[in-house]
Amino acid sequence: MQDLSALIDHEKGIIDRRVFWDDTIYQLELERIFARAWLFVAHESQVKDPGDFVTTYMGEDAVIVARGKDKNIHVMLNSCPHRGNRVCFAGEGKIRSFVCNYHGWAFGLDGALNGMPNNELYDHTPGFKKEDWGLHKARVASYRGLVFATFAPDAPGLDDYLGDFRWYLDAILDCADGGTEFLPGTTRSALKTNWKFPADNFVGDIYHALWTHLGGAEPTLGPFGGVKVDNDTSYQASVNGHGWEFSVQNNFGNAATMGDREIVRYMRSEYEAMEKRLGKVRAKMWGSVGSANIFPNFAFLPGYFTFRLFQPKGPHEIELHAWTLVPSAVSDELKDRWRIGAMRTFSPGGILEMDDGENWEHATTANAGAITRQQKLCYTMAPRAQEKDSVLPGRVHHGQLNDANQRLFYKRWLEFMMAEDWSQIPLDPISKPLSQGAITW
Ligand code: FES
Ligand SMILES: [Fe+2]
Repeated sequence: MQDLSALIDHEKGIIDRRVFWDDTIYQLELERIFARAWLFVAHESQVKDPGDFVTTYMGEDAVIVARGKDKNIHVMLNSCPHRGNRVCFAGEGKIRSFVCNYHGWAFGLDGALNGMPNNELYDHTPGFKKEDWGLHKARVASYRGLVFATFAPDAPGLDDYLGDFRWYLDAILDCADGGTEFLPGTTRSALKTNWKFPADNFVGDIYHALWTHLGGAEPTLGPFGGVKVDNDTSYQASVNGHGWEFSVQNNFGNAATMGDREIVRYMRSEYEAMEKRLGKVRAKMWGSVGSANIFPNFAFLPGYFTFRLFQPKGPHEIELHAWTLVPSAVSDELKDRWRIGAMRTFSPGGILEMDDGENWEHATTANAGAITRQQKLCYTMAPRAQEKDSVLPGRVHHGQLNDANQRLFYKRWLEFMMAEDWSQIPLDPISKPLSQGAITW
């Protein structure tokens, strides 16, 4: 294995292209990033009642997320400990137990091995205990409806993992009484991109929007919304490699881009209440031009409220899983408008997603060339330095147009990749108190 630290110069912003192509590096990412980090697995609204389940991936590990009879959410490997067969083939549903197709072992909603055909064969097997052979389980924790899991016993708690990024997340997750929910269904598509290109796009790349999304999207970006970006009235914030770039001027710019006046009307009507609830900054962040990514591969957009996972499938491919989140309290009609708006823009047939996907695919596949992949990529843009005593939490840069959040994403990537265990992975300090409206500026 090459010297990993030579691949990333986060201070200068120079990234080695092999991190987007090399299979050895990718295999190490599965072990050192995806098997360690807290990964998003479901929204609580997807597994509301006992028996509700969804299947997903943590890295390339297939997992089941199920609400148990005990009302707790359990996350476990979707692989039978007998001979390894997949235990559940459905994407989502309601079930009493998971029975393996191969020899019929049956597992509870909590992953416990409950029984098997010809039980007596094992009754006479010395030392065999059913408790030893349940589905392998992950640690599970939620933040305001978002369910995360990790396979690392030594990982810090989810609150520490998210740190001050929770303050920013509340701009969407704590927007109204009653919380939020995912609209039913998961949109799945495959893209021939390394997973880090979409992640770094969402963590801090508004720069591309000024060009990539100009042409074809003109009718959508025109009169109601648009991506007018001004470095005086916008920010980038990063905490533990999670990042959000956002405008505090162009209120509802993202939301308006969906082209539905009713949505913008609704958000405007809620602005005052939002401001009272969460303060000026977050009231603006709710729908303004911006994008975010929770390290490593869980991204979302204010306004559109599309939430998406870039599930790695080898170094050159992802499966993109996407959902639309809405405040639970809004009317069914408005929920439907959001669903259509998000589909129109960010779905496999969505005008903005198609623009992006093509770029990420070509950025990835170019590295098939032996000479091409020896070259470096330029993440150097730094018109403004990090703010010293920002009123905002985390590492803050004034101005959305900056590669800062992306450099910090790759810094985080290297910290995970170099660490032998979690004790070697630093966490940004948590500001106290991290209370609602603590920052009202
Ligand atoms: S592989 Fe599952 S029961 Fe044998
Ligand atoms: Fe984009």
